[in-house]
Amino acid sequence: MQKTQQYIQTNLNRFLNELLAFLRIPSISTKAEHKEDLQKAASFLIERFKEAGADAVKLVSTYGHPIVYAEKIIDPRLPTILVYGHYDVQPVEPLHLWHSPPFEPVIRDGKIFARGASDDKGQTYMHLKAFEAMVKTGELPCNAKFIIEGEEEVGSESLPAFLKSNAEGLAADVVLISDTSMIANHTPSLTVGLRGIVYLQVELTGPQRDLHSGVYGGGVINPINTLCQMIACLKDEKGRITIPGFYDKVTELSPQERAALAQVPFDEENFKKELAVEGVAGEEGYTTLERMTIRPTLDVNGIWGGYTGEGAKTVIPSKAYAKISMRLVPDQDFHEIGQLFTDYFTSLAPRGIKVNIQLYHGGQPVVVPMDSIAYRAAELAMEKTFGKKPIPQREGGSIPIVPLFHQILKVNTIMMGFGLNSDNIHSPNEHFGLFNYLKGIETIPYFYHYFTELSKQQQAR
Ligand code: BES
Ligand code: ZN
Repeated sequence: MQKTQQYIQTNLNRFLNELLAFLRIPSISTKAEHKEDLQKAASFLIERFKEAGADAVKLVSTYGHPIVYAEKIIDPRLPTILVYGHYDVQPVEPLHLWHSPPFEPVIRDGKIFARGASDDKGQTYMHLKAFEAMVKTGELPCNAKFIIEGEEEVGSESLPAFLKSNAEGLAADVVLISDTSMIANHTPSLTVGLRGIVYLQVELTGPQRDLHSGVYGGGVINPINTLCQMIACLKDEKGRITIPGFYDKVTELSPQERAALAQVPFDEENFKKELAVEGVAGEEGYTTLERMTIRPTLDVNGIWGGYTGEGAKTVIPSKAYAKISMRLVPDQDFHEIGQLFTDYFTSLAPRGIKVNIQLYHGGQPVVVPMDSIAYRAAELAMEKTFGKKPIPQREGGSIPIVPLFHQILKVNTIMMGFGLNSDNIHSPNEHFGLFNYLKGIETIPYFYHYFTELSKQQQAR
């Protein structure tokens, strides 16, 4: 991989400028007004894959946003790595909190600031550039396939059908993803588990129209007051979720498993300082790290209704809304939990309030095996570039397609993320370190190398 590494150093400036151009496309998947920008981001990738030397580069249309597919098959007898990433990004509000506009990337303090810099355009682009470096130097050691989708941030609705109808053509020996975090820049890690998610919106209706709060106040039910009471009922004083049956399928970890995960360095004082909070909160009986990774939770992501404009308006609203998500752990099922929530939440409504619940999307939790040659190859690759063996960790975020790779393509996933939890993903001032971008591009080719070598050794046995 000598020539590959040399190529990377020589072309670094261009690799950076290309990423900045990619980041200028506002590919926010949840907003209809950005539909064309998603198309543009996909076309951008198509061109770059062609330039990088991929064969069979395709833009696959879906009911939602297009899927970018590319591959290079150098020899069908060699192993195949399937890389997954996403080019869509989260909304940028609240805009006024950004120090520079989210789609005008700038480099400050050795970091690229832009929406998607870390999640996941920057991390996806590392794979494209690592691939280019291997192809152009003739050092690509195995076959490569790429699926870059535009709907990850909205639940990957179109991708399962694409996997099912193309299962044969997508056959691979491992899926490789960089859409997670590592512990710190000098503490590499591999992610071995992710939480699932179910995301819902609730709508409460009280009186059939907005009312003067002086004329009617005290005499009619206020749906915002009620919504707050109902939400407050969803967790008890021990931080446990009160939805009947919610914990029935939660896998409790053994003391050994918990001790192993406690090896992940976590500095609670620093954590509080970084978030500017005086205390931590969560389910009794678990550490902060456990609460955020191996335990399920429920959060209100947004709440509104009535008057929220400038100044005061005296009104009892007709409607109140909230967006609520639950993070799930093995072996909870997001369909089941969505139903349990719906039944319980509806039952909490007092007379005079109508409840309407809409399910947005879901994804199942996942744990990936560590006793595979793929995991070993990932360890070796990181050891090579960081000089340290990566620590296995479980993370709290979700990537809905990961369990489906397993189910549909029968292939395991390696989650080798180069982002940091402090990258402000989904938040104002998202950024990605130049160190991290480069480390990713340097490390990925070694994964290809070791995975190919270990696969050959296994075959020879
Ligand atoms: N990259 C994240 C998931 C992630 C972040 C995993 C940090 C581990 C560490 C991904 O793009 C994401 O945000 N997913 C959504 C999925 C949802 C919208 C279906 C999430 O977790 O909220
Ligand atoms: Zn994300």
